[in-house]
Amino acid sequence: MCSNNYDLINKRSYLVPSHVAIIMDGNGRWATKQGKLRIFGHRAGVKSVRKAVKFAIKHKLSVLTLYAFSSENWRRPVQEVIDLMELFIWALDNEVKSLHKYNVNLRVIGDIEQFNNCIQKRIHYAQKLTQHNKGLVLNIAANYSGRWDIVQGTKKIAKQVQKGLLNPDHITEEILSIYLCTQELPPVDLVIRTGGEHRVSNFLLWQIAYAEFWFTDILWPDFNELIFQDALHSFMKRERRYGGNSQEIISKLFVKRGDFC
Ligand code: IPE
Ligand code: IPE
Ligand code: MG
Repeated sequence: MCSNNYDLINKRSYLVPSHVAIIMDGNGRWATKQGKLRIFGHRAGVKSVRKAVKFAIKHKLSVLTLYAFSSENWRRPVQEVIDLMELFIWALDNEVKSLHKYNVNLRVIGDIEQFNNCIQKRIHYAQKLTQHNKGLVLNIAANYSGRWDIVQGTKKIAKQVQKGLLNPDHITEEILSIYLCTQELPPVDLVIRTGGEHRVSNFLLWQIAYAEFWFTDILWPDFNELIFQDALHSFMKRERRYGGNSQEIISKLFVKRGDFC
């Protein structure tokens, strides 16, 4: 085992997260603390989204998945939901061109058929415009829930079986993964949650099976590059064992990446 190769794996393949997912929480409390309406917090949150995307591009992450609106968020007061939908339209109208310029491949994951036509049209336009971009994959989870994702993937698989195109005995974890909203993308390495809560709130349940978690009390509108950096540094110090032990993981990486030796 040559030490140079060991360093290469540690730096590029083992420690740096490829897929980061963020639960952007705390907008409402941020606004309330300042005596403002909650929508001010959501608007301020858009600026933090820009910072997170910029950071992800700069640090060459492959995938950034942002939880923008959960399937459960429809339970909020009608006015807040209306305000959030208007903000979503505004963001799609104003941010997509610049994302395209930065070679970002934008995908909206979730049950988008529940959105009105105006939003659906913009989502389709944004996805089509950026579909061939080879830079950061940016997933915006909107009307998303992890349980819904598993159910919709299972329904698609059941249809393939019904048509005789898939043998139930050939269904594997890899096949189910491909039928989820995140499709061919790698599993989540790191989940960041702002806003002080220590829960998953129905986000990417399948994809986070072996993710590392990083929680902060910082409210989402106060998120910035330095906080993202802290999360990344914490991740890079962790030892991911996947149920094995360190020695075993290193030897597996060498088996998988024998081309480095
Ligand atoms: C997260 O912030 C944004 C959405 C869920 C849309 P919140 O609106 O949940 O803010 P808090 O948690 O109430 O402060
Ligand atoms: C999670 O935040 C959803 C998003 C950030 C979009 P919530 O504020 O909805 O989560 P709970 O209700 O505190 O679990
Ligand atoms: Mg919240």
